[in-house]
Amino acid sequence: MSSAERAARAARLGDYFELQLRFAEHVGARNGLTLSDAVLRYTNFHRRFGLGDPDRALAPAWGGYAERLSALPDLLARRAWTEEFFFAAPEDTLPPEQYFFGCFGCEAPDARGIVRIHFTRADRDGLSPLHRSKIGRRQAELARLVAFIVERFAGAQSIRGISWLYNIDAYRRLFPPLYGASAQPAERVRLNGTSSWGQFLHHDEAIKPELRDRFLANFSVIEPAAPWRAFPLPALTAQAPLAVFTDFYRAR
Ligand SMILES: CC(C)(COP(=O)(O)OP(=O)(O)OC[C@H]1O[C@@H](n2cnc3c(N)ncnc32)[C@H](O)[C@@H]1OP(=O)(O)O)[C@@H](O)C(=O)NCCC(=O)NCCS
Repeated sequence: MSSAERAARAARLGDYFELQLRFAEHVGARNGLTLSDAVLRYTNFHRRFGLGDPDRALAPAWGGYAERLSALPDLLARRAWTEEFFFAAPEDTLPPEQYFFGCFGCEAPDARGIVRIHFTRADRDGLSPLHRSKIGRRQAELARLVAFIVERFAGAQSIRGISWLYNIDAYRRLFPPLYGASAQPAERVRLNGTSSWGQFLHHDEAIKPELRDRFLANFSVIEPAAPWRAFPLPALTAQAPLAVFTDFYRAR
């Protein structure tokens, strides 16, 4: 990506950064956190800056961002600094511990044989990856992902996803009906990724103003111990046995 493109992207994401900063400031103050700790815990900036999952390892570069952020006087200045830091930061690449097939990826199974799957916006054609004309393409990617899981992970028993996306039919229709129907509110939701924050973005990375405004209106009733409940679309957990997936995609 050229530096002009990166600058345009930083500016485009400004509203998204600002929304996350407002949330982190609000919830952090309620929970007695410093601003930099709140921003680490309640925004996905560490990952957006290409620094990886902060729960696995805190990148040294984060310190430079956090230190200056804490010294700034107001939200406007913090938003501008976040855009500036993002502009100079490395590209946000896919996590090395995940295996991707188009928009879908997975991790190795956990001790119970559960494989976590993930979604990312891999298309660069200006059309939403969830557009109905792309259902066949997305299901073909999922079929490849499931075949990979069967071949690579002998201990895999079931597939699990956690995302706001399970609220919308455009996403659920890509999966076996049993899996979509299993979706229920996640008990605890980490807010330093995209499983809740992704709902505020269009596929072109512009903010969705109506959802943002609903979210801001919820700030007055945020539960500090469960701040994820303030998001308009809750992150849902879906899970089904691996055999449900192999049967479904074999028939496609
Ligand atoms: C997922 C994403 C690409 C959707 O982009 P988008 O611009 O909303 O897509 P569109 O508006 O073209 O909508 C595509 C479909 O989803 C539906 N949809 C999107 N947002 C919706 C919402 N909030 N409620 C109901 N339906 C919705 C649309 O109705 C449409 O369905 P249709 O084809 O049946 O009409 C976008 O939100 C994104 O890139 N998010 C960040 C990535 C992310 O969230 N990843 C999840 C990681 S866990």
